[in-house]
Amino acid sequence: MADTAATATPETAGETDTGIRRRDFLDIAAVSAAGIGGLAVVYPLVSQMAPSKDVLAASSTEVDVASIEPGMAIKAIFRKQPLFVRRLTPQEIQMAEGVAVGSLRDPQTLEERTKEGHKDMLVTMGVCTHLGCVPLGAAVGEPRGEFGGYFCPCHGSHYDTAGRIRKGPAPKNLEVPEYEFTSDTVIQVG
Ligand code: FES
Repeated sequence: MADTAATATPETAGETDTGIRRRDFLDIAAVSAAGIGGLAVVYPLVSQMAPSKDVLAASSTEVDVASIEPGMAIKAIFRKQPLFVRRLTPQEIQMAEGVAVGSLRDPQTLEERTKEGHKDMLVTMGVCTHLGCVPLGAAVGEPRGEFGGYFCPCHGSHYDTAGRIRKGPAPKNLEVPEYEFTSDTVIQVG
């Protein structure tokens, strides 16, 4: 490269300069066009990403819990994932409250995992916190594991009656999603 520059005549050097200038201009023009094109492309993408009212409505799930008997659970779907809603029996509440919270892998009381005045209503995601399998125990006859809550057969995680991890590889309790009671018998999740 140094040789070429050294042997270049003023004329050819001038052409080179002109060439560079021309290329610079073409490059700048190309970048500008790309920038404008980029903006034109990005805007519809951004506007598509903003959730519409329909999508926002679909992102919450309403569940009527009136028909859930003590000791029973139902499965619902929340944001395309399984959701467990379970009404605890007095005995299951007692089991959950009889555990020394400090001894838990993911220390949480039943009270912290339920809504005030509704300690018997356990709402959790039905997604194992190990690798995402759907635990058993929500449907009648399914094994509920050694602690009477849910059991994930994928790698043997046992959750208690408050959905807290008690044994096996799962690192966290079953997630309690955002939800609220909109009446005595209806919850809105999300
Ligand atoms: S995914 Fe549940 S124990 Fe591994």
